[in-house]
Amino acid sequence: MADGQRRPMTAPAVRARKGGAKLKMVTAYDAPTARIADRAGTDIILVGDSLANVVLGYNDTLKVSMDVMIHHTAAVTRAEPKALVVGDMPWLSYHTSSDEAVKNAGRFIREGGASAVKLEGGRKRLPMIEAVLDAEIPVLGHLGLTPQSVNTMGGYKVQGKHAQDAYEMISDAHAIADAGVFAIVLEGVPDVVAEIVTNEVPVPTIGIGAGIHCDGQVLVFHDVTGLGAGAYVPKFVRKYANLADDAVAALERFYADIDSGAFPSEGETYHMPAESEEILRHLADPSDHLMADEAMEG
Ligand code: KIV
Repeated sequence: MADGQRRPMTAPAVRARKGGAKLKMVTAYDAPTARIADRAGTDIILVGDSLANVVLGYNDTLKVSMDVMIHHTAAVTRAEPKALVVGDMPWLSYHTSSDEAVKNAGRFIREGGASAVKLEGGRKRLPMIEAVLDAEIPVLGHLGLTPQSVNTMGGYKVQGKHAQDAYEMISDAHAIADAGVFAIVLEGVPDVVAEIVTNEVPVPTIGIGAGIHCDGQVLVFHDVTGLGAGAYVPKFVRKYANLADDAVAALERFYADIDSGAFPSEGETYHMPAESEEILRHLADPSDHLMADEAMEG
């Protein structure tokens, strides 16, 4: 469907896709990437806290603040995508209390222009999830490898590999689905765990490193498009383009054209009207000034 005909995606519309057409989700952190994502028919744009690693050069997601997340969310929503824009609540923006969670989730909506928020965690975060939902803000859940728990997990490790851990995760999925999240991201989990969650919970699951059985898939924009220039790429990523290589090649051609004088061309240059140019050349010509001075003195 052409861009102009697509209706804006909403959280209830995402929820209604359970068992239907697979959901397509990607991260975006600014207006151009949001426009590209939207042109490709993305259902959900996540302004992920992966912004920290992917764009801002930090080594984990813990360093990104609420103000920075809002700044980037607003850039994404200024592109007016038809996709549902979800703001990713950064570490410590919802961990200390339900009041803080509501206040910060509200900033994503009011200042960032997002239509929903994502937060990591299961039953441990249930009071915060319920409070945010109670404030009429749709919540996207996130279970499994939750990058904000990197220090307690002891690294970025696949979660739910053992039956008891997997069972706990399934219970978490039930709890947050019962609370009313409109979908759940499952990151870095064995495919069988994602399959069971997907079969059991009434809301869509969106996988990242969670196998084929989810109701949708999400990847980081820079990973899918190869814009991540030198960044670590996990096993679950499939790179569909090499935009970083394309960008280097484009810049190399640009610099070669500068050296050869092929850039800028006539068509890439502004000109003044011929009469003005003539006057200007006289005004700027030192020999003309000398003649004028001599005429004055004489
Ligand atoms: O921040 C992020 O990019 C994410 C997704 C990859 C799910 O949380």
